[in-house]
Amino acid sequence: MITSQQDPGLLGDRVARFIPPDVDPASLPRSFALVEPLPPLGPVPDSWRVVPIYTRETRGHLATIRLDPDTSLYGTGEVAGPLLRNGFVTEVWATQPFRIEADGTPVSNYDERSKSLYQAHPWVLAVRADGSAFGVLADTTYRLEIDLREDVRLRSAEPFPIIVIEGDSPQEVVERLSTLTGRMELPPRWALGYQQCRFSYYPDSRVRELADEFRARQIPCDVIWVDIHYMDEYKVFTFDPEGFPDPSGTNAYLHERGFKTVWILDPAVKVEDGYGVYEEGVKGEHFLRDASGREHHEWTWPGDAAFPDYTRPETRAWWTRLTKAFLEHGMDGVWVDLNEPSPILPHGAELPEDLRHAGGGEIAPGSHAQYHNIYGMLMSKATLDAMREARPSRRPFVLTRSTYLGGQRYAATWTGDNVADWNHLHWSVPMVLNLGLSGQPNSGPDIGGFAGTPTPELFARWIGVGALLPFCRTHNALKGDQEPWSFGAEVEEIARVAIARRYRLLPYLYTVFWEAAKTGLPVARPLFFADPADPALRDEDHAFMLGGDLMVQPALEERAEHPFPMPKGQWRAFTFEGQAASGNRALPVLRLRPGAILPVGSGGQTTEEAAEGPLTLFVSLDENGKAEGQLYEDDGDGFGYAAGDYLLTTYQAIMRNGEVEVRVERRHGSRAATPRETRIRVL
Ligand code: NOJ
Repeated sequence: MITSQQDPGLLGDRVARFIPPDVDPASLPRSFALVEPLPPLGPVPDSWRVVPIYTRETRGHLATIRLDPDTSLYGTGEVAGPLLRNGFVTEVWATQPFRIEADGTPVSNYDERSKSLYQAHPWVLAVRADGSAFGVLADTTYRLEIDLREDVRLRSAEPFPIIVIEGDSPQEVVERLSTLTGRMELPPRWALGYQQCRFSYYPDSRVRELADEFRARQIPCDVIWVDIHYMDEYKVFTFDPEGFPDPSGTNAYLHERGFKTVWILDPAVKVEDGYGVYEEGVKGEHFLRDASGREHHEWTWPGDAAFPDYTRPETRAWWTRLTKAFLEHGMDGVWVDLNEPSPILPHGAELPEDLRHAGGGEIAPGSHAQYHNIYGMLMSKATLDAMREARPSRRPFVLTRSTYLGGQRYAATWTGDNVADWNHLHWSVPMVLNLGLSGQPNSGPDIGGFAGTPTPELFARWIGVGALLPFCRTHNALKGDQEPWSFGAEVEEIARVAIARRYRLLPYLYTVFWEAAKTGLPVARPLFFADPADPALRDEDHAFMLGGDLMVQPALEERAEHPFPMPKGQWRAFTFEGQAASGNRALPVLRLRPGAILPVGSGGQTTEEAAEGPLTLFVSLDENGKAEGQLYEDDGDGFGYAAGDYLLTTYQAIMRNGEVEVRVERRHGSRAATPRETRIRVL
């Protein structure tokens, strides 16, 4: 039986909510995607185009959204495979994927058949043939199937409201989504630098050596990451007395050399008498329980472990307090992992869905089936609160493996345990793009692949493109070395140039991050943003845009040449002078939008250095002989910018009598302009 929705309500400019007909709106759980509850402002106009049709099924509730022919579908959060999602069926259920190898070894990697990955985004972006767009947000934390084989079909055992967002372009819809689900805060500038990670650098002397090696080899790097082996027998909030006896000393050593550090925390707490964190957790009733009230345990890295119930305000406050004490050792950021949440063995195991979450405050008590998908988001929030409280005058940085729609409010993400193969190199791009289209501007892959060992060629290509994605970190599992110099001199030089390009582009990249924080637009954007009505751009997921002006054309296939579609106009290619490896296939071709001015810096070994020094404005005139560009600058950390201590410069160029005139058109903000040489390069 087809029934319609009841009492649809307008929630804002071109945003409407629909509720299943046989459901009491007051009985629906609160939204975790929305920043704040949105009361309806009035009825939905009769002219409203996208109206979900709700139907009852034996398995629960189905909502169908009919599509016009030639509608392209995107979003759905973290999904491996192509950018264009028409034809796919996925499930919104935060999952540590796993498969069994031919020899019986369980491994936690994924491929394009994986129905769910670590993050949960009940969101579909639809772009119509004429370039107008709409978005569908299923406002539920329960397991949800997204079936895009024909129309958009959403299924869940529990009833769910749908919020439809309309826009004249996909950009407009994504911006509007961010007014509902929140935006990334402007990260500290160092978080835009190159980052080196490994599971795990051990002991601390290895971490120090690594830092020295980056500087000795003159490979730009801002951040070194410390994975789980620093812990004492994997017990969270402890340090291995042999390998990491002096975490403050390790951090200080790195700080003296211009590095920041990010250390990992897992949610699971080892069950052990005498282990303070566990004992406190038991006393404070911080752990998840089963239906009979017994504390639930699962096997994780340290052995049997209990899981904090982050739906409880007291438990979040406890976690925040523990993390604050941890930060006293001088870590600059925190990485939260395994928070789908995932036990370790047997692989693929999940917490039972009938575990009880106690809730409290604004969160009602509920089952794990209800709160599983937001476990990682609540953990990120509690961790972020610790960073904010510990250093109120510094910008926090949290990276999380699992989160939910709106999670960009609390943490950046990476695409989990990928594999060192050519498919995963390719998926790095569409995965980051679809996350951006789902509201998360700051994400990136493990460069080089987490599992397996890349060939020198694969690593070179990966660092070439990875250096142009928002979050730029090399990471790998317990296997061979994966530093920029681990693949021989030729690849080392490519890696040096690839990373140096990022540092030269830093003034522009930082401006793009600022724009993303202000508007909700992605940092890495699909090529079809250049012309949403051009059908030739709709499925392009090799080339992409960094911000609105820079096109990146990477060579992601081992041998084949990819035929890049091009938006209208003359997108001029450029290289950076003095970079020997330019022209190598591993370095993506960079093109500037006609009509754009790109602020390029002089590079450096750290982002701090890269923000100083002479500036070059790369100018690409449009067919009317004009161009415009922006540069955003501030302290790179702290919140002075919120009080006006920033400088936003708009440059304009115009061709007059065969000469190009470039001028500062206007300036915003109270910050004094950096006294430095500014050069012009007309492409
Ligand atoms: C799983 C994460 O996905 C990976 O990045 C990390 O290295 C390991 N856990 C160990 O902490």
